[in-house]
Amino acid sequence: MNIKFSKKSLPTSDSHVVFVYSDKELSDSAAKIDKVTDGLVSRAMDVGHFEGKFGQIIELVAPVNLDINRVLVVGLGKEASLDQVKTQKIGGKIMARLIASGDETLSIAVDVPKKANISGAEFAAHLGYGIRLRRYRFDKYFTKQEESKKPSVIGVDIMCTASANVKKMFEELDRIADGVILARDLVTEPGNVIYPESYAEKIKELSDLGIDVEILTEDEMEELGMGSLLSVGQGSACESHLVVMHWNGSENDDEPPVAFVGKGVTFDTGGISLKPGAGMEDMKFDMGGSAAVVGAMKALAGRNAKVNAIGVVGLVENMPSSTAQRPGDVVTSMSGQTIEVINTDAEGRLVLADALWYTQDRFKPKFMIDLATLTGAIMVALGQEYAGIFSNNDELCENLIRAGKDVDELVWRMPMSKGFDKLVDSKIADMKNVGGKYGGSITAAQFLQRYVNDVPWVHIDIAGTAWRTEASDIAAPGATGYGVRLLDQLVRDNYED
Ligand code: BES
Ligand code: MN
Ligand code: ZN
Repeated sequence: MNIKFSKKSLPTSDSHVVFVYSDKELSDSAAKIDKVTDGLVSRAMDVGHFEGKFGQIIELVAPVNLDINRVLVVGLGKEASLDQVKTQKIGGKIMARLIASGDETLSIAVDVPKKANISGAEFAAHLGYGIRLRRYRFDKYFTKQEESKKPSVIGVDIMCTASANVKKMFEELDRIADGVILARDLVTEPGNVIYPESYAEKIKELSDLGIDVEILTEDEMEELGMGSLLSVGQGSACESHLVVMHWNGSENDDEPPVAFVGKGVTFDTGGISLKPGAGMEDMKFDMGGSAAVVGAMKALAGRNAKVNAIGVVGLVENMPSSTAQRPGDVVTSMSGQTIEVINTDAEGRLVLADALWYTQDRFKPKFMIDLATLTGAIMVALGQEYAGIFSNNDELCENLIRAGKDVDELVWRMPMSKGFDKLVDSKIADMKNVGGKYGGSITAAQFLQRYVNDVPWVHIDIAGTAWRTEASDIAAPGATGYGVRLLDQLVRDNYED
């Protein structure tokens, strides 16, 4: 789909969008359309109980004397309360309404908001961003699709009086959207398509953007002593990989990097502690943490962020087989610490233990943030609205919470303590990979913390936010790409030259 920004003001598209504020206050463009249609817009507002509330939409068939199919009248609510996220949501709502309308082209008349906290250029750019994110569909495996369900919109013309500024602003958002969409694609691809090897190859493609990609083999990981990560993949026919991405965007080559670490379990059967069959297909999404890392690296490189960043993802498949690890096995991690594997389904922490240790050891980063679809327990605690964060550093948490609000990828800090830490002590090894019956997402985080020294660190449990069965304003049902925008915003606000 092509999104452009133009200055012309006469719609020549299939669908045309105009805005109305609270209390039926017509924008200039809405007033113009009202005039050329002899009051059709005003009439429709009266008939349709339309007050211009945020997100309210009425759809009019255009009169025959106009060269367009339909007019969408879209409520923006109170002008003063418009911000970037709300604007993205409006873009998404428009796209959701028109995506399969049969119309191919869409024009949107943007008037410079007079009282809003957002400039005309910002409004136009973020509208385009929301439109692109909501237009995303993963339909490559349909060999036939009903005409009425096929996405039809291919061109969007955002008409605004604003400057060259808009294009520059959108360009950057568009690069972030590239990262979000890559993450969604990776998460949605099934386990027979994205497995450690193919996934690593896919990540390799990021070298086109100037990212250096290293792929570690099982032999190399063996050499490094990554017995914890390797134990997870040992039941699978697929070779495990650790992939390291380097983006050196800072002016200063010696600037310590920020580091992102992702759980990339390309399919999680549970292993010998096999999961129940119902719904197991969802476990293709168990590489969502790694997808967020890969997407964020793509976004940073795409928009040429002035930061040194490292992305590390542990790619493994958790399968039951005669070579799989057993409950009760003891494995030795790269840190030297030993782990009693009580439950082979608590595999994400085994992968992250070595990935985290390796990252802090090799890169001495400014901070480390790991993302993982780690526990069902976090969904019980926070539902699908917030990801859980666990940390040893207040400042990093505050920055992350703020970034989350800015991009509407919310995080909620969860507690950690010595008492919780004790719950992962084992009777025969340094620790075990499950805690007690309660606080499952916290004991998982305590386990991870044993692989983090003094470096500021946050663990983000995205089990509840990586996938949604219902659409949101900016995403169709399915993979959300959660985390990409969050990490990008964190970097943008705090860690660029
Ligand atoms: N990938 C799962 C976590 C998960 C479960 C994410 C359901 C999304 C939905 C993880 O590997 C896992 O199986 N965790 C177990 C841990 C338990 C065995 C201690 C869980 O949460 O049940
Ligand atoms: Mn599991
Ligand atoms: Zn898992």
